[in-house]
Amino acid sequence: MPTFHVVTPHCSYPTVVERGAIGQAAKHIPPKSGKVFVVTTEDVWRHAGAPLQAALRECAYEVLHLPGGEDQKRLAPVEALAEEMVQRGADRSSMVIAYGGGIVTDMAGFLAAIFMRGIPVLQIPTTLLAQVDAAVGGKTGVNLVSGKNLIGSFHQPLAVLIDPAILGSLPEREYRAGLYEVLKAGIIREKELFHYLVANSAGVLAREAAAVDHIIAESVRMKTEVVSGDERENDVRKILNFGHTFGHALEAETHYQRFLHGEAVAWGMQAAVNLGEAMDTFADPDGATMRAMIDAYGPIPSLQGIAPENLLGRLVHDKKTVQGKVHFVLPVRIGEVKLVSGVPEELVMAAIQAALP
Ligand code: GLY
Repeated sequence: MPTFHVVTPHCSYPTVVERGAIGQAAKHIPPKSGKVFVVTTEDVWRHAGAPLQAALRECAYEVLHLPGGEDQKRLAPVEALAEEMVQRGADRSSMVIAYGGGIVTDMAGFLAAIFMRGIPVLQIPTTLLAQVDAAVGGKTGVNLVSGKNLIGSFHQPLAVLIDPAILGSLPEREYRAGLYEVLKAGIIREKELFHYLVANSAGVLAREAAAVDHIIAESVRMKTEVVSGDERENDVRKILNFGHTFGHALEAETHYQRFLHGEAVAWGMQAAVNLGEAMDTFADPDGATMRAMIDAYGPIPSLQGIAPENLLGRLVHDKKTVQGKVHFVLPVRIGEVKLVSGVPEELVMAAIQAALP
C-alpha cells in the first residue's frame, strides 16, 4: 500500500497507509532519541494499545494519559503532562508518540510543539477522522471556551503511520464521523473519491477492507498534496476548512459535548451547500447530490434546541475570521470549491436556518 510524502520548505516526512503500519513504530524513533513518551487516553490504550505495545517491545518507553472528549481538549491537561514529563526525566532529546483519535493527535502534537520549545512527534492515529485529516499536516492545538483550536501551532511530525486495521474495533459512530471528512475530501478536490463513496456506500459502511483502504489512501493523498502546496494555510489549504466554519460554531455552541467533530462538519457542509446555492457559487446543480450523500452517511445527533442566532454570533470567533470578515469555503461542483468572503449576514442566517430542523 502507498506512502505519501508531505514536503514543505521546512521538512519532509512519510505518511504511510498500510495494514500493519503500527508495527513500524520503532523504526521511526531517531537513533539518538532520549526518553520516548506514548501519549494516549486510558480508553485507547486499553482497547487498542496492543499493536503499539508489540511494536515497541524492544524499546524503553513511558505512557502518559490525556483525558478523552472534545470538552477536555484544553490547555490544562497539556500543561499537566508537560509537568509529568519533567518529573519523569524528559529533556530536549525526548520524543512523543501520539496514539489516538484527533483529540489526542492534536493535543499530543501540541505538547511536543511547546515542550522545551519543541521535541519530535510521531503521529499514529487510531480513528478514521484522525487518519484522513487530523494527524496529517502538522496542525496541533487545543480549544478555548470561545472557540475551537484557538491555541495551537504548526508542528510537523517525523512520520504518520496509518494502519486501517486498527479501525476494526472503532465504534460505529466514530467511524461514521470520520467518513464525513472523507466525503469532504471528495467534495473539495476528489471527484472520483466522491463518486466512489456514492457507488460503494454499502462496502464503505460495512468496513470492507478494500473500500476502507481505498478511501483512506485517496483522502491522505489529497491531504498530503494540499499541505505540501501550502503548509501554513495561506492559500489552497483553506479548502480543507469546507464545512468547518459552521461546524466549529456548532461544536462551541453545544460545549463540545453533543457532536463529534466529524458530525459537526457534516452539518457544516449542509449549511455550506445551502450558502453556496444562495450565493450562486455552483457551476452545476450538484447541491442535492452532496446533501444526499451527507445524509446517506448519517445520521448525526439531534439539532433540536439550537438557536440559529447563537451560531451566527459564534462564526466571528472562528479563527478563519480575519478583521471581522468571515470567509467561507463554498462548493462550485463536486470536486471543486472556492473561498468567498463578504457574504451578507442574512444569507448566512438563512443557510443556518435551512440546515436546522
Ligand atoms: N484539518 C484541516 C487542516 O489540516 O488544514
